[in-house]
Amino acid sequence: MSKVKVFRLAYVDFYSKNADIMVEYYTNAMGYRISEEVDGITYLSNALDHHNIVITPSDKKGIRRYGYQLDGKLTLEEVQEQLHVLGINSIIKVDVKPAISRLIELQDPAGNTLELFTEMDQTNVGFGISGVVPHKLGHVAFYAKNFQNTIEFYRDALGFDFTDKIGESFANFLTCNTEHHVLNIVASDETRLHHIAFQLKDASHQYASSDILAKQGYPILWGPSRHTAGHNIATYHYDPEQNVVELYTDMDIFIPELGIFEPRPWHEELPLKPKVWESLSAWGTEFVLDLAKV
Ligand SMILES: [Fe+2]
Repeated sequence: MSKVKVFRLAYVDFYSKNADIMVEYYTNAMGYRISEEVDGITYLSNALDHHNIVITPSDKKGIRRYGYQLDGKLTLEEVQEQLHVLGINSIIKVDVKPAISRLIELQDPAGNTLELFTEMDQTNVGFGISGVVPHKLGHVAFYAKNFQNTIEFYRDALGFDFTDKIGESFANFLTCNTEHHVLNIVASDETRLHHIAFQLKDASHQYASSDILAKQGYPILWGPSRHTAGHNIATYHYDPEQNVVELYTDMDIFIPELGIFEPRPWHEELPLKPKVWESLSAWGTEFVLDLAKV
């Protein structure tokens, strides 16, 4: 029987103290479109999926849950059984939210709530025609308590591959597809979002996005610069609730069959394999955004 395999991050569901302003940010600045509003919760799409961003009104901010799509080779009952064998409790939920009729709800060792599903209804809202309009939601980075157990959970239970580290225990990068990272797990004594990241089409899109964001009151906090781990060219800004948002392009492509990244002219060594990096920027750009204080 196949092993449990997640293959993409499909959506992030935010708690929001100022839901109207967050929805305005995602529609006007980021170019997402509202696909549905149910019970005060807003579901936003970037073209095809019913939702990639969810804004849930609350008296707190932060992450409510992360949604990952499974490869569909196993039924949810079979996935649940494999998780159970690894000592991981989960619940199958039916008709509890729009567009995903059946899902598995569970918690990772850091305490994040995850939803695993095989099918999401599609929408016809299409890509936005103004704002940033990224290609897609690409990755999340979060501070994690129990971070070693959390890394093992994503690798052993959900089928992620380990790619790079920055420092021996600072940032830990994992992927569930060919992109350098879908997850970045940062060692901490508490669990909370570090940043959420969206993929752009190219460097010119990055410049245009910075203009759009600045004009709408979202200044760039760091970048553009090329990271070491992943080699993505990145900029960072705050959303209206000071969640850090990264826009990136040019991320390394992982070839799991070879255990290397596709060669690029800017790679420090060839072939480039998963490794431990000492710094954040391949260009020597000082990282002045102190995420620990966010
Ligand atoms: Fe990132």
